[in-house]
Amino acid sequence: MSKFRIRGGKPLAGEITVSGNKNAALPIIAATVLTDEPCVLSNVPRILDVQSMLDILVDLGKEVKFEENTLTISGEVKHACPSQSLVSKLRASILYLGALLGKKREATISPPGGCVIGKRGIDVHADVFSTMSVELEFSTTSYRGVLREEQDSYVFLHEASVTATENALLLAATITRQTIIENAACEPHVGDLANFLVKMGASIEGIGSNRLIVRGVEKLHGVTHSIVPDNIEAGTFMIAALCTKGDITIKNIIRQHLISPTFYLNLMGAKVDFIDNSTVRVYYEEPLISPSRKLQVGLWPGFPTDLMSPMIVLATQASGNTLCHDWMFESRMFFCDKLVSMGAHITMCDPHRVIVNGISPLKAQHLSSPDLRAGIALVIAAMSAQGESIIDNAELIDRGYENIENRLASLGADIVRI
Ligand code: EPU
Repeated sequence: MSKFRIRGGKPLAGEITVSGNKNAALPIIAATVLTDEPCVLSNVPRILDVQSMLDILVDLGKEVKFEENTLTISGEVKHACPSQSLVSKLRASILYLGALLGKKREATISPPGGCVIGKRGIDVHADVFSTMSVELEFSTTSYRGVLREEQDSYVFLHEASVTATENALLLAATITRQTIIENAACEPHVGDLANFLVKMGASIEGIGSNRLIVRGVEKLHGVTHSIVPDNIEAGTFMIAALCTKGDITIKNIIRQHLISPTFYLNLMGAKVDFIDNSTVRVYYEEPLISPSRKLQVGLWPGFPTDLMSPMIVLATQASGNTLCHDWMFESRMFFCDKLVSMGAHITMCDPHRVIVNGISPLKAQHLSSPDLRAGIALVIAAMSAQGESIIDNAELIDRGYENIENRLASLGADIVRI
């Protein structure tokens, strides 16, 4: 296990390029199971979660070549029962259930792993598959599905779950009948998977909306695709610049994917200048203030839950009270005690809501992160704190952020891996 040693107090400055979207790369990697022809993916982030998805692909019999940020995936899937030890490494491994059902018409997968941020059940996935004529047997150690027949399906998601929508898409793309997915998740990564499946040969109407109409094909083809930029990483850099009173220019963004964070940052008095649709400059000019609105996560295009933890750090650096509300995950807020140990004033109202009272100068600490997004939030807190902080278990942060210490160091942060 490695750690980050961070000497805080240095404003971030300079230019940084955003990586490919983690949560688009993961389902698209799973989707390559659907064809025996080679797929070439560019702008793929070199992060641990991508590596874990690739390990499963190799276990299934595919060949993988990963050079710089380009992945070439070829060969055929040999079986539909990926190894339990690989599947348990991440939540996104559940996407292989939809992909393998699409390819092999039956599949068995063990329960997925992932960050400990709440219950994270799979009932929405189960409902999706049942509606699509998959006979399911769920036990505590495995989920087994068999596709009984191809028929038109009307899938209603009682929650607009991102990965359940993606599982529905992965299976529907191989069914030569019509599948309507109602209350689909609309996040940009869901759209990127849908666009990938269209390139492979499926017909999908309504991409970007919460009603998807899919008509699959018997044979999907190998394609070349560039993964969309990571809006969560872009938002994280925006917040980091402001927390450190810095001035950075972020490249390879998609402006429309940053609407909600930009709304709140503007309310807080941050300077956010879009130079064009793929470049934004974010800088600190005067002391930040509370947004004076409840900062509440939402389904797309609402404020993303995956930016809530860094945003709480920013709220500690804004004067006044900020009510932060994440109704999605039960344990997202539990890292706030670490910020309190650094000098932040945070009152936990209940597991979903905290009130942050700023401005609190933060002081260095020895910290350990409970999950990926809390981990990067602690890195940001340490960069804005006076003194030397240690953040244990850097690998948790490597799950979602490529080469993060060198990229932050290129902006002037004093951060090393030890
Ligand atoms: N939820 C609702 N109502 C809804 C939608 C969701 O209550 O209408 C709840 C769910 O019950 C769950 C939570 O919100 O507790 C998230 O649900 P979802 O099923 O959408 O999550 P997921 O598909 O398992 C993906 C991302 C997560 C991200 C969530 C929410 C991937 C691989 N994972 O998870 O990403 O937090 O969507 O946007 O795409 C991360 O990258 O750090 C991460 C955890």
